[in-house]
This record gives sequence, C-alpha cells and structure tokens, in this order.
Amino acid sequence: MTGPGRDTMRRPWSSDPYSDALRTGRGPLLLRRRDGWLLPLEVERWCARADAVDLQVLERCEGAVLDVGCGPGRLVAELTARGRPTLGIDVSRAAVAHTLRLGGQALTRSVFDSLPGEGRWDTALLLDGNLGIGGDPSALLRRLAELLTPSGLLIAETVPVDVDESAEVRIVNGAEADSGAEATFPWARLGTPALLRRARPLGWRDTDQWTAGGRSFVALRSRTTSSSAEPPNSRAVISSQRPRNPLADSAVADA
Ligand SMILES: C[S@@+](CC[C@H](N)C(=O)[O-])C[C@H]1O[C@@H](n2cnc3c(N)ncnc32)[C@H](O)[C@@H]1O
Repeated sequence: MTGPGRDTMRRPWSSDPYSDALRTGRGPLLLRRRDGWLLPLEVERWCARADAVDLQVLERCEGAVLDVGCGPGRLVAELTARGRPTLGIDVSRAAVAHTLRLGGQALTRSVFDSLPGEGRWDTALLLDGNLGIGGDPSALLRRLAELLTPSGLLIAETVPVDVDESAEVRIVNGAEADSGAEATFPWARLGTPALLRRARPLGWRDTDQWTAGGRSFVALRSRTTSSSAEPPNSRAVISSQRPRNPLADSAVADA
C-alpha cells in the first residue's frame, strides 16, 4: 500500500447515507465540513447514464482505463459498452455492486491498495470531485503516476473556481445534517490552478484544459521515465512480457 493509510483505514463512503442514496438513485446527499459548510453531491447525475459532458471526456480516453472512485459506474458501463477495457475501483461496496449490475468490471478497493495492472493503465479518470480522495492531492497524484504507464493520460475534473483546500468532512443526508453521527474523513477540493501547482513539480505535463456544462477538466501526462531503480533495459524486457490489457491480471469483479 502507498499513500495515506488513514484513507484506507477509514472508509466512510461505505456508510449508510451513501449506500442508501446509490440504492434509490436519489439525494439529498452532502459533504459537511466541521464548520457547517455543505457541498451537495450529485447522486442523481452519478446514477444516470453518462451525459454529453461525460461523453466528451470518454472520447479522450486511450487504451485501458482505470476509473478511480467509479461510484455507481456510469462511466465504466459506457466505456465497456464501447469495447474499451475498463476497470472501476471504489471503496463502497454498494457502488461496486451497482457498477457490476450495469455490466462493468469493478473492484472494492482503495486507490492506495494494491491493484491489478499497476504501471500499465493507459488512462486514469478522476471525475466528479475525485481529486478529493484521501484529502492529499499530491499523494493521490504520486499514486496515479505509479498506476499509469509512462506518459499515461490522467483526466481530472477540477472545481470551476480557484480553490485549494483540504478539510475533514462527513457524508450526511438532508435530515441528518446536524446529527454529527457519521465518521469524518479528509477530502480535498482543487481548482485548475491548484492542481497544476501540485502536478507540475511531480513531473506531470498538462496537455489540455476545457470546460463544458459548468464543469472543468484537465488532461495531464505522467512522466515518461520511471523513478524506479530498475535499469531501463530490464524495464523494457519486463513490459514487453506483460499482457497489453491490465484487466487480464486477475479476476476483477468482487462485489
Ligand atoms: C464524489 S464520488 C464520485 C462518483 C463517481 N465518479 C461516479 O461516477 O458516480 C467519490 C467516490 O470515490 C469513492 N472513494 C472514496 N475514497 C476512495 C478511495 N480511497 N479509493 C477509491 N475510491 C474511493 C467513493 O466511494 C465515491 O464513490
């Protein structure tokens, strides 16, 4: 395991409010900061089919795709229907079960856990606020560089304003907004400038930025050379022996 151990120990996205919302396909569902600030979560959109803005993102995907924090799986299902090798990962069993029901492949796993095909994913998706996972975007970016092939593509959705924050939050539904019963966990929100400030020193190259339907996105390429101590020749031999499709590594559906 790499990255924030805290995140893998605390999995409040497996909590009842989130599972219930995925089961019904409806909110209200919100992230609540300790100071009472509320961020509505777009459960209805996540549980619907991929929309026009999503499809623009999916058109950009290359090779085998890892959807990090896939939620109920609309993107995994759409990519799979298009014949693209795609794996969703999510810490929520309800989210993974939903993705499997849509015909996608998914694993109940944290992005910081050991995953199939590490270093061989061509594209990684961090959409719908998932740059927030773990509350430490730099650790998440380092982890994604490990998962992607050299020069692999990361498409990340940013907050459409210039924000850079990490805070302890909890998931609440409307009725529970003041109960304080749910566990807290760290979550980050990044606008595009903040993402680029963090990504560039880590070796990421930003190749495109766009907005659509009130949402904003950045495409980044991971560094072309690995920081691994492995000599280049040995890496070449090993990668030539690896199956092209990282999904071929293991059975990957484990609702
Ligand atoms: C903001 S929602 C995104 C919804 C999703 N992109 C969709 O298409 O419906 C965040 C998702 O990330 C998942 N998540 C949180 N921490 C995670 C982690 N460490 N690894 C993988 N997924 C995680 C949550 O369970 C939740 O489904």
